[in-house]
Amino acid sequence: MCSNHDNHDNHDNHDNHDNRRRHNHDHRQIGAAAEHYSAEQNTVPGQLFPLTLTVNGHLQQLSVRADERLLDVLRERLGLLGTKEGCGIGECGACTVIMDGKKVNSCMVLAAQAHNSSILTIEGVEEPDGTLHPLQEAFIEAGAVQCGFCIPGMVLSGYDLLARRPDPTEEEIKQAISGNLCRCTGYRQIIDAVKLAGRKMRNGGNDED
Ligand code: FES
Ligand code: FES
Repeated sequence: MCSNHDNHDNHDNHDNHDNRRRHNHDHRQIGAAAEHYSAEQNTVPGQLFPLTLTVNGHLQQLSVRADERLLDVLRERLGLLGTKEGCGIGECGACTVIMDGKKVNSCMVLAAQAHNSSILTIEGVEEPDGTLHPLQEAFIEAGAVQCGFCIPGMVLSGYDLLARRPDPTEEEIKQAISGNLCRCTGYRQIIDAVKLAGRKMRNGGNDED
């Protein structure tokens, strides 16, 4: 007879199996996209492509391989280490950035797909003089940061939401951060931080409605 523990183990094994399958599938997808891009450009593996993009308001011109991801360009070429790599398969949201006004998982975007785009990373959220964005202030005030690994992605998901919905409902906030996983703070403080930031942004820095 199966104990609860056995059931739990079976469930974990099943989840691990599913995750591995999804992981392989996602890697096949991005690999296939890279091959497709190479074939389209009539190039050989390893050949470099010119890439032009604007990151946090600065024009960048680089040479990239077909299989390089936007995440690799941001972290390894440009040294923008605020964008994190968690799962690498589009599931945790740690690598979230804004690309041409839309939130994306940068681990799932080929660098070549970002050609001529405008990217906002966490480093570009604060003012040039270092003044924190109301969202960053709100995350601190609400106690929404522990290890901080998920926070750049959470802040950018909040940023994307508040740009579209200045006064979001709790459900809308939950929906907006549903692709961002936090393993330590818990979501209550993060939801409160996004609400607080919305109030501050609507009221010129004042957090009262
Ligand atoms: S690292 Fe991109 S979604 Fe997890
Ligand atoms: S604060 Fe640690 S993962 Fe979210």
